Amino acid sequence: MARSSDVTQVDGDLTITHLTKRFGDFTAVDDLDLNVPQGSFFALLGPSGCGKTTTLRMVAGLEEPTAGSIAIGDADITFSRPYQRPVNTVFQNYALFPHLDIYENVAFGLRRRKDGDVDRKVKEALELVELQHVMRRKPGQLSGGQQQRIALARAIVNRPAVLLLDEPLGALDLKLRRQMQLELKRIQTEVGITFIHVTHDQEEAMTMADTVAVMNAGVIEQMGSPIDLYESPNTAFVANFLGQSNLLPATVTGADGDDVLLSDADGAFRVPRARVAPGVDVGTGRRVLVGVRPEKIHAELLTVAGDAPSHGNFVEGTVASALFTGVSTQYEVATRGGDVIGVFVQNLRPGAVFDPGTAVRLSWDAGFAFILDGSEDPNAGALLDDEAAD
Ligand SMILES: Nc1ncnc2c1ncn2[C@@H]1O[C@H](COP(=O)(O)OP(=O)(O)OP(=O)(O)O)[C@@H](O)[C@H]1O
Ligand SMILES: [Mg+2]
Repeated sequence: MARSSDVTQVDGDLTITHLTKRFGDFTAVDDLDLNVPQGSFFALLGPSGCGKTTTLRMVAGLEEPTAGSIAIGDADITFSRPYQRPVNTVFQNYALFPHLDIYENVAFGLRRRKDGDVDRKVKEALELVELQHVMRRKPGQLSGGQQQRIALARAIVNRPAVLLLDEPLGALDLKLRRQMQLELKRIQTEVGITFIHVTHDQEEAMTMADTVAVMNAGVIEQMGSPIDLYESPNTAFVANFLGQSNLLPATVTGADGDDVLLSDADGAFRVPRARVAPGVDVGTGRRVLVGVRPEKIHAELLTVAGDAPSHGNFVEGTVASALFTGVSTQYEVATRGGDVIGVFVQNLRPGAVFDPGTAVRLSWDAGFAFILDGSEDPNAGALLDDEAAD
């Protein structure tokens, strides 16, 4: 592998190998392995303090790793100086130079590198963020969202191989944030630079990224496409941190063809073997967690007890709470067996909301459930993103 000091021109996948960072005896990033394909939009998602910024700072060269290596293409950049890396960073507090106008803010890096084509590149970058018309203003004369787009233009104008975005939308209000998410995605598609986007916001990660890595306590718990992570979480932490999940303790009672058979205090369930998380033992007698997303559950009025569908995967209970949110109603149902199951029901018709106290039957398609290791804490990762969104 090439090991040169100035590698600002290199290109290729970002490869992180055994990357570790310790502060004293605290391990902030723990033996991290990661490959980010060139040109992809990659999101690093995780609760506060899990090591996201520390990882980015090592990639940017602002923090020296305790162990491990970082490469772009064939070039090892582990110990390159920050300005010698083909990497730019946009932070949450996108400090623009207040005394320079927008044009000069964007031109700054090019001028420093004595680029011969400053004017064309600056105007191109401003066009990309659709702010050519404000180029003679000072940063203080722009809105927060506009300043954010300038910070992005200032980074992109250098054509880094990798652009690091550390909560770049954190300071924006929700509506502007959603708008900027679309902008960022459009810009990334247009310029084809590898984006590594750090966020607490799971919806932001899922809507923007090709690949999402869920990080927890210095390690990556699971990585994949947003749909894979959401529909097939491998751990309780991922199941709860990315959206919401019902994780019901159950015991394996046997197998039937391609299905695992299970039971708990509410009755019998089945889950296809293909929906068992890697490494989980589903031998008869094993304790596992059966996972079902709240929106995958069908709720109906329980009129005659016992007129049950023949295939299992249903439970009976009483509505404990109903939260009308407009698009859907979010119920908590106390089951006969003593579990509490969250259910999201789309409000297809006005006024079709079950009141608390109503007896209901919940059912779901076996293929929509998943099985996790029974020794996991069913609440791991739950509510963490709310605490972290400070
Ligand atoms: N310079 C430092 N000295 C000691 N500990 C540090 C230092 N920098 C970070 N840490 C610790 O390392 C852990 C990871 O920090 P990091 O900033 O990477 O978290 P994060 O995932 O970016 O969190 P947030 O979402 O809150 O920004 C934290 O527990 C933090 O306190
Ligand atoms: Mg951080």
